Amino acid sequence: MKTGAGIITNPPQSHRRPGEAHLRGYNVRSVTGFDTRENILTCDGLALGTIAERHGTPTHVYSRRLLSERVTTFDEPFASIRHRVHYALKANSTLAIVRHMRSLGTGADVNSGGEIEVALRAGFAPADMVFTGVGKSPDELRRALDLNVLAINAESFGEIERIAALAGNRPHPARIAIRINPDVEAGSHPHISTGSKAAKFGVSLADAPAMIRDVVQHPALRLVGLHVHIGSQLVTAEPLKRAASAIAGLARDVLAQGVPLEHLDLGGGLGVAYKPDDPTMSPTTYATTIIDEVRSLGLTLLLEPGRWLVAPAGCLLTRVVDLKPKPGGGWFVIVDAGMTDLMRPALYAAFHQIEPIAPRPGDPIRADIVGPVCETTDTLGVGRTLPPVEVGDVLAIRDTGAYGSVMASNYNRRPIAAEVMIEDGEARVIRRRQTVDDMLQWDL
Ligand code: LLP
Repeated sequence: MKTGAGIITNPPQSHRRPGEAHLRGYNVRSVTGFDTRENILTCDGLALGTIAERHGTPTHVYSRRLLSERVTTFDEPFASIRHRVHYALKANSTLAIVRHMRSLGTGADVNSGGEIEVALRAGFAPADMVFTGVGKSPDELRRALDLNVLAINAESFGEIERIAALAGNRPHPARIAIRINPDVEAGSHPHISTGSKAAKFGVSLADAPAMIRDVVQHPALRLVGLHVHIGSQLVTAEPLKRAASAIAGLARDVLAQGVPLEHLDLGGGLGVAYKPDDPTMSPTTYATTIIDEVRSLGLTLLLEPGRWLVAPAGCLLTRVVDLKPKPGGGWFVIVDAGMTDLMRPALYAAFHQIEPIAPRPGDPIRADIVGPVCETTDTLGVGRTLPPVEVGDVLAIRDTGAYGSVMASNYNRRPIAAEVMIEDGEARVIRRRQTVDDMLQWDL
């Protein structure tokens, strides 16, 4: 490798170049999700190297089997209570993923007009949708009212007034759930905590009774539920318990006034382990914590999980485009995916495991894995220890199924990555790679 400082040798390397990887004596039907076999990383039994060769990089890869398994595992601990899991589309709204969620029997939690349309195209009925969002536009509210979605989760007095004005001439009252901000610190990253009084979301417990009264008294509105979501990546039960207890207490008061609520919506937020030793909360602990607080009310329980269902079912394949020695030791491993494909590390200093899909033998290297975007923050992993890598090798960035492709951008005019889902042992393209023509189609 040539640099201004002269000739520098690459990190230790062998001559084997991982390409089309073949797995011997390996029953692809028996595996779910990402798994290393014969030193090769696979998804649902398919070698990721084969997918990178065929579909290029960067490419998001999903395991349909793991998605199904996650939904079942999340749902089961709620079996003792009437409930419905509304998949939060914001975590991943690629149409094939949303369709798959619908086929598994979930409802949908939508957060924008765009997500409403994606949910409809995926086959969700309006009665399967709850519509959340802190700044719903008049057009979005009109659409939700026309469709008569299961609930519009209202966030403020102003929004209630606007919904009432728009709902006035319709045959049915608008179905409203009030989003409560219980002033609970979720204990996760400040950028993804939503339940403290300093956050822009929902109405305080102090204001809630007046807002409930406004909704109940208005002929164009019907109060169907209460909603709370304190934040994402929750790994301890205590804040969740406090939020559930607060909303259950409020619901008890509302029912005591003779207002027939239909449901309590406890939002999403269950966290996942991005590192093997990250603390986690099991779906059973999560479910028990909520159920203990709300069961006695006899209301239907709604949940809005996103991350827990999809994060581990996806990975991002990226190819090494350059290796540069770092002053002071170690390497910059420069890859073809960047913050435009996975924003989480740049935005929240989030950790995602990064590994070669076919590790080479040799001494490990110390490396920062960085993208090609003209921003110092375009970093995917800092100070990592990796097996030796060469230009052209493919790395897998793990647990990118949630808040990966949905947060992509065209910054630096970079095309949006392709997405592939493994279905019945085959890799199916579920979103083709964007082209420059695709990118320019809106420019006049
Ligand atoms: N319901 C509401 C009202 C929400 O605001 C959210 C997430 C969810 C449900 C789903 O939460 P989950 O189960 O996925 O934690 N981009 C950030 C996460 C932002 C979460 C926003 N709201 C990240 O990459 O960590």
